[in-house]
Amino acid sequence: MTKIAILGYGIVGAGVDAVLREAGGFGALAVKYILDIRDLSDSRVVKDFSLVENDPEIAVVVESIGGRKAAYDFTKRALAAKKHVVTSNKELVAENGAELLRLAKENGVNYLFEASVGGGIPIIHPLCQCMGANVVTDIVGILNGTSNYILTHMEREGVSFDTALKEAQKLGYAEADPSADVDGLDCARKICILANLAFGRHVPPVNISVEGIRGITPAHLREASKAGYALKLLGRAHKKAGELPRVYTAPYLVPKTHPLAAVTDVFNAVVLRGSVTGDVMFYGRGAGARPTASAVISDILDCLRSADPLCGRGWSADPLDIAPPGDAAGFTFSNGDKMRVLDS
Ligand code: HSE
Repeated sequence: MTKIAILGYGIVGAGVDAVLREAGGFGALAVKYILDIRDLSDSRVVKDFSLVENDPEIAVVVESIGGRKAAYDFTKRALAAKKHVVTSNKELVAENGAELLRLAKENGVNYLFEASVGGGIPIIHPLCQCMGANVVTDIVGILNGTSNYILTHMEREGVSFDTALKEAQKLGYAEADPSADVDGLDCARKICILANLAFGRHVPPVNISVEGIRGITPAHLREASKAGYALKLLGRAHKKAGELPRVYTAPYLVPKTHPLAAVTDVFNAVVLRGSVTGDVMFYGRGAGARPTASAVISDILDCLRSADPLCGRGWSADPLDIAPPGDAAGFTFSNGDKMRVLDS
C-alpha cells in the first residue's frame, strides 16, 4: 500500500478521501494522515506537518489547502523530503509552478496539478503529452464554473447577479472569497497555467489583463441572446507569427454556432489549437468535489507509475513578454456598453 497524506480537508481534500474509500484505495492507496487545523473526529487527523514530512511511509502528499502561505511552505518541505506532491491549488501553481517543478525535479519526485485547471477535465496531461507533435498557438476556455453557472442562470431565469452568486455558493462551486471567481482572477490563474505550459515561459497572473462578470446584467444577456450570442467569461492565450503572445480574461460574446456557446452551468471547456491537430475541445465538470477528486487521484496514480516528471518539463521560470489583449470590442449594446466577439 502507498501511504498518502491529505493537507486540508475542505471540498477537494474530503472529496479525494471519499472517492478513495469508495474505490477501496484502488487496491494501492491508503490515507494515513489528514492535516487540518479543525478538530475533526477522525483518528487520521494531525495538526503538525512535521509528522507527514518525517514519515518515510508517506510517498504522496495531496495539497488541497489552497492559497499560497501554508500551501507553499508545506509543498516545498514535502518535495525536499522526496515526496510527490499532487495539487488542485491553481493560485500556487500559477504563481510558483516553475519553482516547484524545479524543486520536484531536483528531488526526483513529481509535482502534478491536473486538478488545478478544469476540475475533472483532463487538460494538463493532454496539453503536455498528447499535443507533443504540435505547436499550440491558441487556447480559449470557459475556466470558471462559478461564473459560468451565474451567467447561465441569469440568462435562463432572468435573475440578478447577486441571486445567481448565492445559488452558486450554496452548491459549493465558489471560492471562499467569491471575488476570485466573479472578478476573473480564478480564470486568470488557470489561463496562465495553460499559457505557461503551452509557451514554456512564466506568465504571472499579475501581468495579465483580468476582467470579470460583476457588471453583467440580465439585460445584457437578453440582448446578447436575441443577437445570436451566448455571453461567456473566457480565458485566452494566443500568439501569431511575428507578434508577442497575448494572455488575458474577459467577458465575450460567443456566436451560438460555436461549441463554447453550448457550455452551460458549472461546466468548463477548453479549445486548444494545435499546428497539426487543428482545434481540439475538452469539456466536463470544472468544479465540485468528485470531478476534482478524479483529477487529483489520477495524478496520484501517475506518481506511482513514474518518478520522471510527466508534466511541466518545459515551464521555465523566465517571464514571458506579452502584449495587451487583442480583439477590439465588436458589439455595442443598446445602453452603449461594448463587448468583444469571439471569432471562430
Ligand atoms: N471556484 C472554482 C470554479 C472552482 O468555480 O471554477 C474550481 O477551480
